[in-house]
Amino acid sequence: MSYERKVIDIKDVRRQIDICKEIYEHVNSDGVTRLAMVDTYGCQQNEADSEKIRGYLAEMGYGFTEDEFQADVIVINTCAVREHAEMRVFGNVGALNHTKKARPDQIIAVCGCMVQQEHIAKKLKMSYPVVDLVFGPHELWRFPELLRQVMARKKRIFATENDTGAVIEGIPQVRKEGVKAWLSIMYGCNNFCTYCIVPYVRGRERSRLPEDIVREARELVAQGYKDITLLGQNVNSYGKDLDEPTDFADLIRMINGIEGDFIIRFMTSHPKDATEKLFKTMAECEKCAHQLHLPVQSGNDRILKVMNRNYTREKYIRQVELARSYMPDLVLTTDIIVGFPGETDEEFNDTLTLCEKVRYDAMFTFIYSKRVGTPAASMPDPFTREDKQRHFDALTELANRISGEKHAEYEGKTVRVLVDGETGKEEYNLSSRTNGGRLVHLKGDKSLIGQTVDVKITASNTWALYGEISI
Ligand code: SAH
Ligand code: SF4
Ligand code: F3S
Repeated sequence: MSYERKVIDIKDVRRQIDICKEIYEHVNSDGVTRLAMVDTYGCQQNEADSEKIRGYLAEMGYGFTEDEFQADVIVINTCAVREHAEMRVFGNVGALNHTKKARPDQIIAVCGCMVQQEHIAKKLKMSYPVVDLVFGPHELWRFPELLRQVMARKKRIFATENDTGAVIEGIPQVRKEGVKAWLSIMYGCNNFCTYCIVPYVRGRERSRLPEDIVREARELVAQGYKDITLLGQNVNSYGKDLDEPTDFADLIRMINGIEGDFIIRFMTSHPKDATEKLFKTMAECEKCAHQLHLPVQSGNDRILKVMNRNYTREKYIRQVELARSYMPDLVLTTDIIVGFPGETDEEFNDTLTLCEKVRYDAMFTFIYSKRVGTPAASMPDPFTREDKQRHFDALTELANRISGEKHAEYEGKTVRVLVDGETGKEEYNLSSRTNGGRLVHLKGDKSLIGQTVDVKITASNTWALYGEISI
């Protein structure tokens, strides 16, 4: 272990829950239920954090709304991964001037990855007086204390100290009702890919204890969740910081051992340390979905090296082959960045040929976005926005074509799906997912939600499959 694994004492978390009760007395003294709105940007980790913010707010007696004009407390949980996400947050925070004018007592909080960057916290302080409370991911566990300070002192609070982060148990959570649940197994990232802000804002890798994770998974199953996604920036590093090492494959096996009818998914896997043991475990554990999100980022060795990804194109391809040898039905998805500083036409072409070779079920493609303080931000970048857009368009076209072809292969086949919700559309009113996570639209009664059914695939396009329930 190269650094201390910090744990927040459970007593300190309980103190926060006591503060929730004090706030409850304060805001509910007139018997009127106050409302809160939590708006989330970014990845599933942020969704999971918002469930904790809602958990605390529920302890304080708040109900929830999605209408900012109705909210007494607004929390905006932000993402810093690309500039576009940050611009949207600034736009939306700016617009809250109107809601605050209509409700002068409204409390506006901005939290999450974005505010953990010094220049952003400063900008909020100087140019967005509408914001009352700013707190980074490391301070989320003391949200009640911070909110009480804002309420009591009627002054702005900024809590964004730099930190490596801790493991915190016992924060209440309000999850979305339904079939799917997020389950964080670790926090932070040690990889420092040269383009990425996450390690700077989320701190070092730290794992929850396996017994805490298994207990939570068991509770989720008992509550009726059927589709559990284990979350971490790189789940393959799970357990490296624990005194009694349990690796990610061991953890899957432990969760697979929980009685009940449910699916285990996970994200994200880093290709540098996805192991044969993991693929074998996935194949052997009947509850584990044959689904792998394995971000490749680029198909060119020079670019992979300057990205600090720690694998080569060949190693990546070998890994995919190995995974498929254990799971021939594996659904494979990826993330790709185009326009990394200095990426040439030829280098980009290697990404295209890799995608042709691997044939992903779906690809998430991004144009490189410069992040303050990362090594890539100071690398020479002679190519224009138009060059990058051209590459992006070519990659999107290829991704769509391959997804469309892969989806067409399902037509006429019968697949097992878990019905997970309603689409709001008349013709295909239900949505469902295959074991590999592909979206299937269905017609049927909504009492099927939460059930596993066999479906004959009748049509498909780039984004989804369409099916009929087989009787
Ligand atoms: N931990 C995950 C990814 C987290 S961020 C992993 O390593 O796979 C999700 C995706 O956003 C990344 O996979 C990457 O493709 C993209 N991304 C991250 N930083 C970016 C940047 N500066 N510009 C464009 N895309 C970026
Ligand atoms: Fe970012 Fe790389 Fe860590 Fe993923 S592994 S969060 S891309 S630094
Ligand atoms: Fe964004 Fe933070 Fe997730 S930067 S992608 S919300 S870890």
